[in-house]
Amino acid sequence: MEYQNPDIARVAAELKKKMADLPDKQAILRDFALKSLYEQLRTLQPDQRPVFGKELNKLKEELEELVEEQTAVAKELSPIDVTAPWDLNVPADKRPRLLSTDLGSQHPVMSELAVMLDILNRMGFEAVEARELDDDYHMFASLNFPEGHPARDDFDTFMTTDGLIAPAHTSTMQNRVLKAQKERLEKGQAIAAVVPGRVFRNEDLDARHEHTFYQLEGIYVSKNVTVGHLMATLKTFMQAYYGKELKLKTQPFYFPFTEPSFEFAISCPFCNGVGCNICGEGWIELLGCGMIHPNVLKMADIDPTVYTGFAWGIGFMRMIMIKYGIEDIRHFTSGKIEFLRQFS
Ligand code: DAH
Repeated sequence: MEYQNPDIARVAAELKKKMADLPDKQAILRDFALKSLYEQLRTLQPDQRPVFGKELNKLKEELEELVEEQTAVAKELSPIDVTAPWDLNVPADKRPRLLSTDLGSQHPVMSELAVMLDILNRMGFEAVEARELDDDYHMFASLNFPEGHPARDDFDTFMTTDGLIAPAHTSTMQNRVLKAQKERLEKGQAIAAVVPGRVFRNEDLDARHEHTFYQLEGIYVSKNVTVGHLMATLKTFMQAYYGKELKLKTQPFYFPFTEPSFEFAISCPFCNGVGCNICGEGWIELLGCGMIHPNVLKMADIDPTVYTGFAWGIGFMRMIMIKYGIEDIRHFTSGKIEFLRQFS
């Protein structure tokens, strides 16, 4: 629309431009520049007022129409895909081009995990996915860490402001797996599950410690299960993964959720237990394990006088490091192409 009066024409152009950037289009009708024109109308000589007033009304109507149009457009917009790899406002020719999937490869943590799960599947263990946000009950109470128990301090957890916990171990899944698979026991079958998952700890970082890493939890419950079954299962698994005979060594340890608890070491697959720069003295401690504590079974409504079981938790990135002689755990998340290419 053309306006004869130069003041009205200027304000009209100004407001239309401003409107494009306003999230709330209605706000344009309350703009100071528009109000000033009404002030100006009042100061005019009576004979000039009708012409000015008519144009000013036209401007107001035009703005009202624009508000209506643009609000309707906003309502009709399709939802934005927040997962799109570029800003949808970027013109097509300026968008980053997608890389061909032929150039990508699986991350070594995932490809090696698949090898491990394949072995464990063949041994009868079914994989269950862990979660990356949990609560105090699953992190501690369901695992026989009473409130205020000093062993809670061994797990320096990250928490959200709402009190949720980034799990510090995959053992948080024990109670869920036991509860979900309890009927198997009633049918005379065993519970046999493995739970890979990402875990988080407030650690001092070095070549062997990361704040974010992966664990592989194992859970087995049936009748008459013994430490012998636990050791045989772990030995079989390790030997299959490294493709050679290994010796194993255990020593007593303490975890609130197992009784007895052990630390489990294998003879170094790199030097066959002689001693080298990967293992030091020939042995590599790999994991914590033990017989599931009766209280943990009770917490899942499983009768510990009838059923027994074992569990383990491995920081399995360590297993991969030993297999390939990787000297620093931080290589996995460094994003270094030279490192990743060795596994593609
Ligand atoms: N959750 C323990 C940790 O992160 C490892 C562990 C030990 C898991 C013994 C188990 C277990 O299931 O039985 O240090």
